[in-house]
Amino acid sequence: MPPQVLPPPPDRWFHSFAFPDGQQVQGVKALDALQDEAAEIFPDRLDGKRVLDIGAWDGFFSFEAERRGAADVLATDHFCWSGTGWGDKRGFDHAHARFGSSVRSLDLDIPDHRVSDLGSFDMVLLLGVLYHVTDPYNILRSAAALCTDHLVIETVTALRHEPAPAMRLFTELELDRDPTNFWAPNILALREMCRRFGFTRFAVTPEALDNRGWRRWAMPFRNKDQRRRAIFHAWR
Ligand SMILES: C[S@@+](CC[C@H](N)C(=O)[O-])C[C@H]1O[C@@H](n2cnc3c(N)ncnc32)[C@H](O)[C@@H]1O
Repeated sequence: MPPQVLPPPPDRWFHSFAFPDGQQVQGVKALDALQDEAAEIFPDRLDGKRVLDIGAWDGFFSFEAERRGAADVLATDHFCWSGTGWGDKRGFDHAHARFGSSVRSLDLDIPDHRVSDLGSFDMVLLLGVLYHVTDPYNILRSAAALCTDHLVIETVTALRHEPAPAMRLFTELELDRDPTNFWAPNILALREMCRRFGFTRFAVTPEALDNRGWRRWAMPFRNKDQRRRAIFHAWR
């Protein structure tokens, strides 16, 4: 067989990967942190499940869903594939070929995800996306409409000590000097939005579901900047 011609790798990776041939690539997000995160995002095997990964970028979590048994995985992105973000789709396409993956991909902007076009999914991933959108309530509603069972939101949070659902708007460049960052909800706001969208069970991993646990914020993602982040699970 002639050697496989791989799509070119990107100039810079966002996700890190360990490919089946043993080669590793180093991205902005370290591999050990991604693996820790994946362990929290995917509590169970996904055999036979349909999974949608909204804002997949280089696709680490899409390929991870496939590796954990998902029957059908759709990865979508736009901003960092062909929009104005610093990335492009070369990382996803290169990793896709290296893994021999069957993950499907669609260049789709976040507000354009409609159940009438995409169908529904057992699991929907909205990871690292919510704080980038100007209208998180409606984006979450659209993501929820696509989800028949398990929605996972990974996000920057704020106002965790507020006793009521609340969301904080950042001034430009305040959060990581990134003008694409807008809103950060607290856990109660995530819970209330998801409750309105028909979910009935909730969990924050790896910590307890509360809005006060100052000491329990810390995520074990090996980067102290991640401390204000949370992984929020909602089930129908
Ligand atoms: C922080 S990355 C998260 C990538 C991946 N889901 C993860 O958790 O590692 C943010 C993703 O949101 C997407 N995105 C969509 N709209 C965006 C916007 N207006 N500004 C920044 N990122 C946006 C980017 O293309 C990118 O894939």
